[in-house]
Amino acid sequence: MTCRRGALIVLEGVDKAGKTTQCNKLVQALQDSGRQTEMMKFPERTTKIGQLINSYLENKSNLEDHTVHLLFSANRWELVPLMKEKLEQGINLVVDRYAFSGVAFTSAKPQGFSLEWCMNPDMGLPKPDLVMFLQLSPSEAAQRGQFGTERYETTVFQKAVQQKFELLMKDPSVKWQVRIQHSNH
Ligand code: TYD
Repeated sequence: MTCRRGALIVLEGVDKAGKTTQCNKLVQALQDSGRQTEMMKFPERTTKIGQLINSYLENKSNLEDHTVHLLFSANRWELVPLMKEKLEQGINLVVDRYAFSGVAFTSAKPQGFSLEWCMNPDMGLPKPDLVMFLQLSPSEAAQRGQFGTERYETTVFQKAVQQKFELLMKDPSVKWQVRIQHSNH
């Protein structure tokens, strides 16, 4: 019996945009409508590579910037066989962050990484059918208060990340959908 390939739906956004909440809602809605759906997230912190990333994000270790970029990418690649297996079984995947975060966050660093360099290691990853970008309005951002304590969680850096996402959204070969987050959603 052949079954239809599952859809690969990615949610992206700056930190605090509410991706995790929206991912959960989307998974629930798809499941409620009778579609087999599972959630994944990157970084997937439970693997060996993910543990290195986790320690870096929690400022417990320092890693050279190119190195950590490649680790984030390797963390996606190590889960590709599982992703493909699920998609081929007809399971929809809702993914909290993907290669777009990889490119936006590294290229926002002051060292001036080119988009091209940042994109290269992720070339060939399963292509998403849809990338939803959760845009945080300034008032909403203010309401959500302080950032946490992880690396990258500063207003200045997040603004730079947002600008990089805006560049990435110009790529017509990716199906982007922007959703503006307002209060009480
Ligand atoms: P995440 O676990 O999604 O944290 P949060 O739920 O707080 O948004 O992501 C952790 C951080 O890792 C976040 O600041 C974005 C960053 N990141 C990268 O720098 N490169 C990547 O490839 C990915 C997937 C995330």
